[in-house]
Amino acid sequence: MNIVILAAGQGKRMYSNLPKVLHPIAGKPLAQHVIDTARGLAPEKLVVVYGHGGDAVRASLAAPDIAWAEQAQQLGTGHAVAQALAQLGPAAQTLVLYGDVPLTTTATLKRLLQAGKDGLAILTVDLADPTGYGRIVRDATGQVRRIVEQKDATESEKAIGEINTGIMVMPTARLADWLGALKSDNAQGEYYLTDIVALAVAEGLPVHTAQPEGAWEVLGVNSKVQLAELERQHQRNLADQLLVAGVRLADPARIDIRGELKHGRDVAIDVGCVFEGRVELADAVEIGPYCVLKNVKVGAGTRIAAFCHFEDAVIGPDGVLGPYARLRPGTELGPEVHVGNFVEIKKSVIGAQSKANHLAYIGDAEIGQRVNVGAGTITCNYDGANKFKTVIEDDVFIGSDSQLVAPVRVGRGATLGAGTTLTRDAPAGALTVSRPRQTTVNGWQRPQKLKK
Ligand code: UD1
Ligand code: CA
Repeated sequence: MNIVILAAGQGKRMYSNLPKVLHPIAGKPLAQHVIDTARGLAPEKLVVVYGHGGDAVRASLAAPDIAWAEQAQQLGTGHAVAQALAQLGPAAQTLVLYGDVPLTTTATLKRLLQAGKDGLAILTVDLADPTGYGRIVRDATGQVRRIVEQKDATESEKAIGEINTGIMVMPTARLADWLGALKSDNAQGEYYLTDIVALAVAEGLPVHTAQPEGAWEVLGVNSKVQLAELERQHQRNLADQLLVAGVRLADPARIDIRGELKHGRDVAIDVGCVFEGRVELADAVEIGPYCVLKNVKVGAGTRIAAFCHFEDAVIGPDGVLGPYARLRPGTELGPEVHVGNFVEIKKSVIGAQSKANHLAYIGDAEIGQRVNVGAGTITCNYDGANKFKTVIEDDVFIGSDSQLVAPVRVGRGATLGAGTTLTRDAPAGALTVSRPRQTTVNGWQRPQKLKK
């Protein structure tokens, strides 16, 4: 089969410099959704017809399996398909999809292809308000005769509720003749792809219809209003899939997945969480409200409290994180690690059962097991020009408000007294303190307010 994706339109009503088909749903361009669905059908040829914002469209969607056909002027859907014709395998069927209709399922398209095996098939839906769409005109026996566009329809045709979604499959071998025969003597002065239906009927070719499971599958995007509506629909679909698979969602209407979310059993997710890229949650992971996780792996049994922000991080099992924890790229936490509020960790590896519970910055560090990082600890990893590493060995206790000026190493079992500014390595097993000894001034008088 060949697939042609029409993506030349400008999208005036988006009021945007971004070409319409590049606007995102779930963080992915509209047309990319269509391409991904098309790939699910394993076409021999996949052609994208582009026009408006051509460079941006090609740059964003480029892939080895995509062929391109330029439609410099948008003269209608029939004209658009004609631009792709030379690249289509003539023996196979051709399926036409729209680059701005992102949510059609593979299952629906498979049914359409099945229906169109011996001729032409149109994906149609019945709408309470069909205004604006092409109508499916049938004869007294119920056979499809032709499609009439809204602007060309008579009053009785306008009363037809069954509409053309635009998605159809047709025999490629007949396309050249049919597209060549199209005329633009209609209300819009366009070459309508829909006119091939009457041509097929005239040749005695069977014309069938198929319907999608849900009307949202065939909704297109012409405005930011419709973009937002389809985003919600898509997110709701994803949330329902999670629920069906056993994930506990506090509210399926308040979760956003912009990528791939893998999960084990008994995973629970509270409201307002955003998942980006590839996220994996192992068994019994619990995520509190309003967390953002991007490219993160979370080990079994780990609990993440509210308002955490994690990116490019690997978290071991049975961890306790947040609220308000931040893990930046390159963070790897072992099992049973605790990371508390206002702790930022970057490009650091932290061993099992270590804790940093309050107000700390840990960057470019290697921290062993059972280490306690006191409140307010900072690894000074940057001298203004270069980054250096801090190594903290197993069983170290870092007193509160310490600064570790890297490169520096704290030996196994060492203790740093609170307020230590460590500029040289701290030996294993000993107490290192850098602050001055505590002194007391007896009889000290506080300054008094001056008399005027
Ligand atoms: C088309 C159908 C109509 C159907 C409706 C469903 C025709 C003549 N009409 O109408 O029956 O009910 O879709 O939404 O086919 N495009 C191009 N190049 C062009 C024209 C369009 O690439 O020259 C692309 C657009 O970017 C869009 C799609 O084709 O993705 C449909 O075009 P649009 O102008 O929205 O078609 P409608 O007039 O809505
Ligand atoms: Ca349209």
